[in-house]
Parts: sequence; C-alpha cells; structure tokens
Amino acid sequence: MKILGIETSCDETAAAVVEDGRRILSSVVSTQIKIHKPYSGVVPELASRSHVVALNRVIQEASKNPKAVDAIAVTVGPGLVGSLLVGKMTAEALGWVFQKPVYGINHIEGHLLSPLLDTPHLSPPFLGLIVSGGHTELIYAKTWGDYRLIGRTRDDAAGEAFDKAAKMMNLGYPGGPIIDQMAKQGDPLTFPFPRPWLPGTWDFSFSGLKTAMLYKLKEKEKWTLKECRDLCAGFQDAVVQVLVGKTMAAAKAFGARKLVVGGGVAANSQLRANFLRASKKERFHLFMAPPALCTDNAAMIASAAYFKIVYKHASKNHLKIKPQMHLPFMRGPLPSFSVSH
Ligand code: KG4
Ligand code: ZN
Repeated sequence: MKILGIETSCDETAAAVVEDGRRILSSVVSTQIKIHKPYSGVVPELASRSHVVALNRVIQEASKNPKAVDAIAVTVGPGLVGSLLVGKMTAEALGWVFQKPVYGINHIEGHLLSPLLDTPHLSPPFLGLIVSGGHTELIYAKTWGDYRLIGRTRDDAAGEAFDKAAKMMNLGYPGGPIIDQMAKQGDPLTFPFPRPWLPGTWDFSFSGLKTAMLYKLKEKEKWTLKECRDLCAGFQDAVVQVLVGKTMAAAKAFGARKLVVGGGVAANSQLRANFLRASKKERFHLFMAPPALCTDNAAMIASAAYFKIVYKHASKNHLKIKPQMHLPFMRGPLPSFSVSH
C-alpha cells in the first residue's frame, strides 16, 4: 500500500510517499528556517503563507502521479492552526479529485512511530519520549493506537529551551543543532547548570534552566568562544541528563523493556549517545529514527497512517477532527506505576 503523506504543522512543508509503512519512495522537506530566522522563532502567519506557496511544488516533487497512491495522510494537529489548514485542505482536495481516502494523523503519533521506518520489529508495549520544539512528552504505548500520557513539560519544551538559550547567546536559529555542535568542543563541567527533576512526577520543566542561562550571561559583557562552547556543553548536559534519567526511571517503573525516542531533539548527538549507553547498561531495547527522520517530515505521517490502517484503529473520519493546536490522542487511564524515584 502506497500512502502520500503531507506535513505542514509548523515550519517545514513536507510530502512523502511511503510503501507499506516502511519503504520511503520519496521524501521532500522544504524548510522555512530562512523566513523565521530574523525573528528567532516561528511566526505563525508567515508559516501558513509559506506553506501555501511551497506545498504544491513539494507534493509534485514527492509524487509525480498522486493518482497512483492508495491513500493520503495529513497532519491535523497539534500545530499551528493556519499551517495545519493548508495541509488539510490540500489533502482533502487531492482526495476528492483522485477519489482516495484521506486520513488525519496526529503529529505526535508520527514522531512516536517514526522508528518503524527503519526498524521493522518495533511493536508495543513501549515507552516513548517525544522531544521537539513544541513537545516534551513521555508516552506509554500499551498497544497500537492506545497511548497514555505519563508526563509532559510544565513550561518550555526541550527544543524550545535549546532555541531560547541559543537566542540569548546570539548563536542563531534554530538553536538546538547549533548548541549540539558547539557543545562538542566544550566542557560541561566548567559552567554547571541545575538539573530540574520535579520529584514525584514524570513531568519536566525547562524554564528554570533557561533563566539560569540568562543570569549566567549577565555575569559579564563578553564571552570568549571557548566559554560559549563550555556554556553550551553545560546547558546541553543538564537537558540531556534530565531527559535520559527520567525516561529510564519511568521505563523501569512501568516495566517497559522497549524505548522509543523521537522528535527534533532526538537528533541531538549527546542525547543519542547517552540513551544508547543507558539502554545498553539496563538491557533495554532502544529505537530511534535516524536524525533526518527525527525532525519534522512527511514520511513519518504516511507511515503512521499505514500502521493505523493495518492495525485497524484508523478511520477516514479522523479527518473530521478540526485542525487544532492541542490535539488529544491519548486514550484510557494510566497503568499503575510507582513514582518513588
Ligand atoms: O520535531 P521538530 O522538527 O519540530 C517540532 O515538531 O517542533 O523539532 C524541532 C526542534 C527545534 O527546537 C530544534 O532546535 C530541535 O528540534 N533540534 C535539536 C537538534 N536538531 C533539532 N535540538 C538539539 N539538538 C539537535 N541536534
Ligand atoms: Zn515535530
């Protein structure tokens, strides 16, 4: 089954054709980074306008013949409403013209299932950490389509914290990949940052870390390149240690042996290395998509649609969900667990 995926939830206009949920036949991502760079963040109005300009070209690049696909999948949330509408209206129009079923997909589910694109043997139950510019969520996937939210950020998302810290340091946008590069040549021990743990809950909080960076930077006017690298290394170390430490603790508490890490921040080299090390030590099975499939793309949306169809928890009526900023997709109560970490 070939599915055309369309993704326009934030600042990437993307289309892809994926066969049987795993074989990426094409994947095109047109980024809006240049447009949003002067503002050091995504400007919603500019994002939706740019999707309108780019989407037809991106779809044509991904699929010369949309008539040949079996279904169309489109992100319907969470995300920027205007941007989501561009994708949804386009998918609906294509579906109507070519008489194809159209499935609305939750962006977080796309990230959560993204490792399936290159690791066929992944199946629930597993514990997933989704870390992106808008989300930091710990999700227990009990079975296909049955997800329970275990913890989430109470303020900034992990990617947002990276982006804001980089902005304070005038490093550029998006900040995550820049801090990742700078930190490689820095010493995390020179400027230690607090580890916001929030004991007794699986929630996260990164805004205090951002404030710590702000106060640190106020200590003097000019910072050398070496000091900037050390600051990046210290900041990244704090974010990564909390994300890895808390996910590992949650996996133990819930008895999950499989871990999934997805979302743009999952491209971070230290996060990947630390997760690899920790899961090896604890003998957990770790699933992470390659970095290019961690950041927003449409292949993960097409793939998620395939598995929803195959495991029969998708309906075409999913598209009736209004595009929205906060799209709930968790079902059922939490499994029992202990928070004695
Ligand atoms: O998943 P994504 O592409 O879009 C959202 O759904 O938000 O994630 C984008 C976020 C940005 O905040 C970006 O700075 C961060 O992912 N990011 C990284 C890295 N690559 C992207 N953060 C840390 N290290 C990276 N290598
Ligand atoms: Zn995303």
